[in-house]
Amino acid sequence: MSLKITPLENVGAEVSGFDINQPMTEALKKELQARWYEYGILLFRNQDITAEKQIEFSRVFGPLEMHPLKATTSEAYPELFVLENGGEKDRFFTASYNGEEIVGRLDWHIDLHYTGRPNHGALLRAVVVPENDGLTGFGDLAKAYDALDEDTRALLEKIEVVYSFCMQRRHMRYVDLEGYQPGPHSPRKPSDMNFPDFPDSVYPAVITHPVSGRKVLGIVEQFLNRVVTPQQVGLSNDEAIELLQMLVEHTRKPEFHYFHQWTEGDMILWDNWRAMHCATGTRPGVRRLINRTTIKGDVTLGRVLTSE
Ligand SMILES: [Fe+2]
Repeated sequence: MSLKITPLENVGAEVSGFDINQPMTEALKKELQARWYEYGILLFRNQDITAEKQIEFSRVFGPLEMHPLKATTSEAYPELFVLENGGEKDRFFTASYNGEEIVGRLDWHIDLHYTGRPNHGALLRAVVVPENDGLTGFGDLAKAYDALDEDTRALLEKIEVVYSFCMQRRHMRYVDLEGYQPGPHSPRKPSDMNFPDFPDSVYPAVITHPVSGRKVLGIVEQFLNRVVTPQQVGLSNDEAIELLQMLVEHTRKPEFHYFHQWTEGDMILWDNWRAMHCATGTRPGVRRLINRTTIKGDVTLGRVLTSE
């Protein structure tokens, strides 16, 4: 197999000339790993893929992790996390955005950010996908860091930020709440969904990627809560809030994003230590099924907050 790499618009790359059903040599595995670190987001199309193949392919990039939110893993394959729209669980994930009902919309986030130990990466495979609905967005936070000015970079080197897990979107401080109304069945606390709760986690505002060494902006809107004691770097609490607002706006710039409209047979692998992602959600009743495998994080990027 000879791979062809075509950069996507703005961020990430499409890999063509790849067939998941062909035997993989060690050289090919090494090349795929190198491209993953180079681009952060890799798209493969037209793959005739089974659950077993997805699990085997994902292991090229590291050992796999079971997700802590057990409710949505596959019974037959515990390594598979099933993302399903169009079923009976929709009512919990339905909310109103500017008067329109949307199922499963997710703000920009990093998976398992709230644990202090995000997984290294993940792979999504389209199993059943609607047309013109249910996009997944990916954002490159290494590129977002590179675009910051020198003064901001220097300030961020001295700052830590707190992420606070919560179930209610309206309690998240830095997501865009304009026009948002929770649905009548939106969960209010983790136990409503049989989820555990999580204590606050803390991260440097600039993360050095453990493998590539690239600097990555550690600011993502979902669960972002506050700067740790901003006065230590000469910022008032108000200035710290304004700084986080400015940085979140920065990460929302389209030049750092790639939005994928799924076709069956597509799969996307991303580096969760570098790229954030989001889901646009689907119209009520629309069926969408995506299978995710998760590559374990063997490095702790953040820490659980015990004292402040
Ligand atoms: Fe996610």
